[in-house]
Amino acid sequence: MTVGSLPRVVVVTGTDTEVGKTVVTAAVCATLRAAGLLVTAYKPTQTGVGPRDVGDMAEVSRLTGAPTHEGVRLLAPMAPRPAAALEGATLPTLDDHLTTIETLASGHDHVVVEGAGGLLVELTEAGATLADLVKRVGDCGVLVVSRSALGTLNHTMLTREALQRRGIRELGIVLGSWPTDPTVIETSNRDYLSALPEGLLGAVPTGAPRLDPAAFCAAATGWLPGLASRAAASQRRDTP
Ligand SMILES: Nc1ncnc2c1ncn2[C@@H]1O[C@H](COP(=O)(O)OP(=O)(O)OP(=O)(O)O)[C@@H](O)[C@H]1O
Ligand SMILES: [Mg+2]
Repeated sequence: MTVGSLPRVVVVTGTDTEVGKTVVTAAVCATLRAAGLLVTAYKPTQTGVGPRDVGDMAEVSRLTGAPTHEGVRLLAPMAPRPAAALEGATLPTLDDHLTTIETLASGHDHVVVEGAGGLLVELTEAGATLADLVKRVGDCGVLVVSRSALGTLNHTMLTREALQRRGIRELGIVLGSWPTDPTVIETSNRDYLSALPEGLLGAVPTGAPRLDPAAFCAAATGWLPGLASRAAASQRRDTP
């Protein structure tokens, strides 16, 4: 891996559910694709959707045109383990997810993995978390999606501490929905996160998911300047 470039697998987690992981996953895919890289996205566990519902990966494909994959989908809008228990479904194991990620990585420059909820949500019946999965993926780093509002500094720093405690590589932070008229608190939060090591990679503006896909893709690189510079340093699979 080139210094300053991106790991093969970019995992998108968040300080919470509904913080904008899906739209950030789409913005990451669009930014990497704009740099000429071959990208796919994977959601190990998708909850809260029926068999025909649009899941997070369909939204990423719609916005970016990137191919996407789901591990398992479950009906109940709750954490994967209890959601699977409710419908008597068997969750994939960590090995299953690893096999999928490695297969996808062998055919793409980057795989972008969107977690469910936050970092320590359990993905398997054995209670393995997204953090456990990340630890087993060879060339991998984690991007944290945070809110802009009051309370985000504590949540963001808790997630970072959990990453650091496990020796997981941090790629940086993205604000999932940056308002048109930020408050003083939001501006202060953004400035604080920007000043951290492995700090702010960028912010996705409020309303981004409502853009048409071409406009979304054209704008994404500008939303994530910290990622775009590293994407430029990232090597395509077919270059020596
Ligand atoms: N930048 C944004 N502007 C406007 N709406 C947004 C933005 N980011 C996210 N949203 C909306 O907020 C909601 C939650 O966002 P999103 O689905 O990306 O969260 P998530 O962290 O992926 O949640 P989950 O844990 O369920 O995967 C969605 O309805 C989405 O359209
Ligand atoms: Mg999502």
